[in-house]
Amino acid sequence: MKDVRTGSEGQCQRKRVFIRTYGCQMNVYDSDRMADVLRPLGYALADTPEQADLVVLNTCHIREHASEKVYSELGRLRDTKAERRAEGRDLTIAVAGCVAQAEGEEIVKRQPAVDIVVGPQAYHRLPELLAEAERKSSILRAGKRLPGAGVLDTEFPAESKFDHLPSPQGVRAGSAFLSIQEGCDKFCTFCVVPYTRGVEYSRPVSAVLAEAKQLVTAGAIELTLLGQNVNAYHGEAADGSTWSLARLIRELAEIEGVARLRYTTSHPRDMDDDLIRAHGEVPQLMPYLHLPVQSGSDRILEAMNRRHGRDLFLDIVDRLRSARPDLALSSDFIVGFPGESDADFDDTMHLIDQVGFTSAFSFKYSRRPGTPGAALPDQVPESVKAARLAALQALLGRQAREFNVSKAGTTVPVLFAETGRKPGQIIGKTPWLQSVYAEGNSRLIGRIVDVRLTEGHANSLAGEIVTGSYEVAA
Ligand code: 5AD
Ligand code: SF4
Repeated sequence: MKDVRTGSEGQCQRKRVFIRTYGCQMNVYDSDRMADVLRPLGYALADTPEQADLVVLNTCHIREHASEKVYSELGRLRDTKAERRAEGRDLTIAVAGCVAQAEGEEIVKRQPAVDIVVGPQAYHRLPELLAEAERKSSILRAGKRLPGAGVLDTEFPAESKFDHLPSPQGVRAGSAFLSIQEGCDKFCTFCVVPYTRGVEYSRPVSAVLAEAKQLVTAGAIELTLLGQNVNAYHGEAADGSTWSLARLIRELAEIEGVARLRYTTSHPRDMDDDLIRAHGEVPQLMPYLHLPVQSGSDRILEAMNRRHGRDLFLDIVDRLRSARPDLALSSDFIVGFPGESDADFDDTMHLIDQVGFTSAFSFKYSRRPGTPGAALPDQVPESVKAARLAALQALLGRQAREFNVSKAGTTVPVLFAETGRKPGQIIGKTPWLQSVYAEGNSRLIGRIVDVRLTEGHANSLAGEIVTGSYEVAA
């Protein structure tokens, strides 16, 4: 993580914040926004919790395992806090993100060392929450008690947090996330998101365009539009009209300097004709789409309340491939949803066979309290889930490797993002979001360079930079 220091020496007190991000790219974006909010208070980023005065855990609640990890991390932080207090110093512990939203004050009950619990809609209030925590904690310290201050904000305010957050600074190696939509009204029966992130909200067009321009000015050449249901985007424009994601993408592609556009995460129900057409018509829109299907069985799709069947998904895939024949498809799968039989699982395997995915995320169904799925009969035994997941991942793994191997021998533009572990190695992404390792100067990071792909592997490709396809800045 980059060490961002703000303010000149002596102007503001030097403090350090360590932010640990769990879960999805929305959280990565939000963590950057929290760093932006804290920077004017004198907080620079720390690389480890040990260096920090404030630790923020930006949490994920999507599966049980994700939530439980947070509590073990909090246990460790509690010990660090106790050691610090013994030395007369302090450590402020904040829990942000979806566990904060879902569990609220339960977190403080389970781990009393926590000072602040802040939900995703209240990050702009972090300065006030910190001040209040500091005040409460000094009272507690005077009373020589170990617990944290337990300050809480998990409201869904009427006004948007986006109106109160500072301009984003988060351009990394030419790439930036841009959050355009939040929340979800779909209520899939397995999912906590509608409860933790609230109802669907689309940022106004002018705010999105302004942020995109700022990011480009700050060096971004690739923008990834984010939303829990990003293709349900329906933002209000200045003239009162409503823009779809397709319209927004077409406009963003007009901004000079935008070389690559991506969006995630989508729902099949919201893949409208114009968006499908945009895949064929907007050259900056990368030929890669993450389109979660979850299951290939109509019966399970219905029980999941996905509001579409297998045929609609296959039809969308056909139409997308007609618009953009080289489109790489990625997806999410859940195995072992309540009532999933061997035949249902076979349907999923056949769908994967039929479509061919270049990458995927797959999970065992995790029973989330409060969701309708948790109350369903016929929960699938863990051993069956594990066996199905292994079979599904083996198939998806084969498909990913075949796709990578099929690209060997071609020359493609790669956006370099970071240095590799081996000296002189740099790593970047193809238009299809494959990782490419090549030998090259780190000055190429943040730039798009032609690379001849030499070897395809399970998760990456090796390549050689085509000399003369770029100019190294002096
Ligand atoms: N159990 C397993 N996987 C889940 N996901 C969401 N909720 C659950 C759950 N309860 C997966 C879905 C979704 C991805 C972000 O996480 O596949 O698309
Ligand atoms: Fe969750 Fe379904 Fe909404 Fe996606 S569409 S966030 S899986 S409820």
